[in-house]
Amino acid sequence: GGDSDDTAADSGSDSGLSTVSSGKLTVCSDVPYPPFEDFDESSESGFKGFDIDIVQGVADGLDLDLEVKDSSFDALQSGQALNAGQCDLAASAMTITDERKAALDFSDGYYDSEQSLLVPEGSDIAGIDDLDGVKVGVQQGTTGKSYTEENAPDAQIVTFPSDAEMFQAIKAGQVDALLQDLPVNIDHEKAGGFTVVETYSTDESYGLAMKKGNTALVDAVNEQLTTMRDDGSYDKIYDTYFAT
Ligand code: ARG
Repeated sequence: GGDSDDTAADSGSDSGLSTVSSGKLTVCSDVPYPPFEDFDESSESGFKGFDIDIVQGVADGLDLDLEVKDSSFDALQSGQALNAGQCDLAASAMTITDERKAALDFSDGYYDSEQSLLVPEGSDIAGIDDLDGVKVGVQQGTTGKSYTEENAPDAQIVTFPSDAEMFQAIKAGQVDALLQDLPVNIDHEKAGGFTVVETYSTDESYGLAMKKGNTALVDAVNEQLTTMRDDGSYDKIYDTYFAT
């Protein structure tokens, strides 16, 4: 008896580890955003993807069941959903930024990313200098949207709530290019008919976002991420989605 080892998950009691009493880690994600998050009826959680496997590993390590909820990215990145307690954390290919850090806490970075431009095969658009007057699709609340506003101010920026709607719009010819995270544009390129013509080194790092001030959960999550890097499970997940 006496003082047994507190796991990170039992310490901190009131500060957001309601997860522990419910036995559940509730994760919000804006789905689909392949290869990071997608629907998968054949899997136990109903979802698949790099982020989903990462948070499954975190949940397993904390002895919690994973529940994934499809959410609006803009509500996640603004802090609104997490600070209202809709989920314990957001796993949504979310770049760690200073602006977001004012509203949210982040785990250590778990994936490095950059921006890119996707156009239909055979398009005349070869890069960001060709975007004057061109309809460029971006997602609301994203780093891709701000990158476009700053670097292609004369483009006709069309903002969509989700990647699925952006991809639909470029297929339908309603926009001429999409500017967003490189891995997602590569996924669209693989689907056929589209080409990534340029990439932009924005040095972005994705983090798992949590309610501001929930340091107990942030610490517990970081401990699991470190364990997953040390025991090879991170590399295994990485290779599943990004092996070349
Ligand atoms: N990495 C970009 C950002 O943080 C885009 C993320 C969009 N994620 C998503 N699941 N739709 O702004």
